[in-house]
Amino acid sequence: MTKVTVKLNSRTYPIVISHRMVEKELSDLLKKYSGKATRLFVVIDAKVYKLYAEVLDSTLSRCKQDVHIIRLKAGERAKGSRTLNRLYTFLLENEVSRSDFLLAIGGGVITDLSGYTSATILRGISWGAVPTTLLGVVDASIGGKTGINHAKGKNLIGAFWQPTFVYCNELFLSSLPPRQILAGLGEIVKYAGLCGGKMIEQLAQLQTSPTKEQLPLMRSLIVESVQYKADIVSKDEREGKLRMWLNLGHTFGHGIERSLSYGKLLHG
Ligand code: GLY
Repeated sequence: MTKVTVKLNSRTYPIVISHRMVEKELSDLLKKYSGKATRLFVVIDAKVYKLYAEVLDSTLSRCKQDVHIIRLKAGERAKGSRTLNRLYTFLLENEVSRSDFLLAIGGGVITDLSGYTSATILRGISWGAVPTTLLGVVDASIGGKTGINHAKGKNLIGAFWQPTFVYCNELFLSSLPPRQILAGLGEIVKYAGLCGGKMIEQLAQLQTSPTKEQLPLMRSLIVESVQYKADIVSKDEREGKLRMWLNLGHTFGHGIERSLSYGKLLHG
């Protein structure tokens, strides 16, 4: 298990990267960070729930809160005001209070959307992220940029709202289709371009469909990427200057995504 820290004074939080037992590790994190909550709200990608229902149900059953789960069909088109309103209704109908906790389990769309819901419901409740795509692990779940899309552009409505923890487990990445792995590698290529040196050399050794033998290499690239982003966010949370580096390539990328009305291309 590797722990990377985003250092933001009282809002400092851990990013745990692991390939061990989800049930024990995630339920321990939940107990630690949502201990005071009476209700635990889980927003999860329906596909992820279908694949990992047993392990997730067993994890959540270890937490003593009243657990409410909503399953969403993910995809860039879900990242808008309609789904946001669905989430507000789900929370309000279940009598969310300010001390309750939201857990987001899914890729970038689910974490951005859930984070923004947490930032805005009752003027803000705590949340945690369990990214289940490579892109979510190395980028979307870190740094508290939460938000939704608008017809005028991607991520134009949002808030900086940091999670209290991020938990990444390889188990969730093991079922990803090659296209999703490539999308995540898109962001890793970005970090390698920014870092240079060792990361470029490691990336050059990686095959586009990484094999089992390449797992250590992949793990190292993931940790390097997460550490790089965590360091930048720790120094410049609100994108005064330094954090802008992380937008490398995104002006074109967002333009292309928007011109295709979102959803045809993956973000990576
Ligand atoms: N994805 C870029 C950032 O979080 O700043």
